[in-house]
Amino acid sequence: MNRQENQERAVFSSKFAAVATTVGSAVGLGNIWRFPYEAGVHGGGAFLICYIAFVFMIGVPVLCAEFAMGRATRSNIFGAYRSLQPHQPWYLAGYIGILASLLILSFYSVVAGWTIEYCLSSLTGSLDFSDREVGHEQFMQLTTGWRPVMWTVIFLFCNFFILIGGVTKGIERACNVLMPLLFILLIAFCINSFTMPKFKEGVEFLFKPDFSKITPSVLLGALGQAFFSLSLGLGCMMTYASYFSNRTRLARTAVSTVMLDSMVAILSGVIIFPAVFSFGISPEAGPTLVFEVLPFIFSQLPGGAAWSTLFFLLLFLASLTSTVSMSEISITYFCEEKKMTRKKALFLSSGIALCGGLLCALSFGPLSDVTVFGLTFFNLFDYFSSNICLPLGGMICSVFVAWFMKRNLLEQQLTNFGKYKFSIIYILVFFLRYICPTAIFLIFLNSIGIL
Ligand code: PHE
Repeated sequence: MNRQENQERAVFSSKFAAVATTVGSAVGLGNIWRFPYEAGVHGGGAFLICYIAFVFMIGVPVLCAEFAMGRATRSNIFGAYRSLQPHQPWYLAGYIGILASLLILSFYSVVAGWTIEYCLSSLTGSLDFSDREVGHEQFMQLTTGWRPVMWTVIFLFCNFFILIGGVTKGIERACNVLMPLLFILLIAFCINSFTMPKFKEGVEFLFKPDFSKITPSVLLGALGQAFFSLSLGLGCMMTYASYFSNRTRLARTAVSTVMLDSMVAILSGVIIFPAVFSFGISPEAGPTLVFEVLPFIFSQLPGGAAWSTLFFLLLFLASLTSTVSMSEISITYFCEEKKMTRKKALFLSSGIALCGGLLCALSFGPLSDVTVFGLTFFNLFDYFSSNICLPLGGMICSVFVAWFMKRNLLEQQLTNFGKYKFSIIYILVFFLRYICPTAIFLIFLNSIGIL
């Protein structure tokens, strides 16, 4: 980002930087950890088909809407709604975004903490998954008790120091190189999947939809995953778009982000499920699935520990680019709306995330019996933010842009002030007006049993 002299806000230096940063926010644990576990719990192929449909039918239009709002107003989520409709309470949607971002930051940091643990254990050679029983035992030790609490705190510290040290730029630059490396690594592991004894079963589980398995909870899960994976519905992409230069083409950036993001999720599925079946692990294991399966995969590879170290290191960095983006929502709110200094804002949001993070980290150990609505803190934060807050935020954004934002303002953003043609704007507006809000609303009704 360049801070231009006569402009208060920074602007990304190039179109590539804009895409790289949005992809940096989108690609993270959501694709590699959350996608396989949600797909596993929700029946594989049935989930995948709903997820892909939502990503393209709802994700792309809502992403365009967030981009347009962010760049048109060059403001955070509150400021964006307020400057487009000053006398109406639309800006309240910003509170949903802040709540969601802090909840996500809490449980995300726990999982990111596991990646540090796994990276270091692989490096020191103490990760032994050659035997299923020993492996499981070891995994339980690593993720329960007080150790994960320590890693959660360490991860939040890393996030804090990146944000406070202003090294975001450095991280972004490093990620421009490292994320393609992660992608290559995923492709290599994917090819390795072909050698798994139950490759066929795994791939069939993921790609062969059993339509009878599409239940309300599958629909809601896939909707939540689409929003979570694209960092949508909480104003994150809006805030990032407020830093885009006027040359960035919004719809193209949206489509590239969505394609890359879904590709990473699918690759991850192709890596995980053949191994799940080959090693006799239940696909329904939930949030711990990927961490149980990956070490088995590495233990089969020559030089497994090195692969494992590299992979978890890259995953840790991918998580950081995502947490930096979600932290930015509450930080810009406290700074721009509450007039706090950046340092104070950062302390406040990190403090909240730390409290939430502790609850989530302990959910696998000492607090595993404490449940709210039958869910542990970890699962509650995950479910409530991804399946309720994000789709709700996305629904409000799509209704707002389609019905309340001036059409010429939207057109200006999508055509880069008339520089390019964007003839499908009518289709986009149609989706934002009718399809996206109705689909989200129906899925909500359906999941609470009204429909
Ligand atoms: N999209 C990120 C991922 O897939 C998670 C995220 C959610 C980031 C919401 C920012 C905001 O890992």
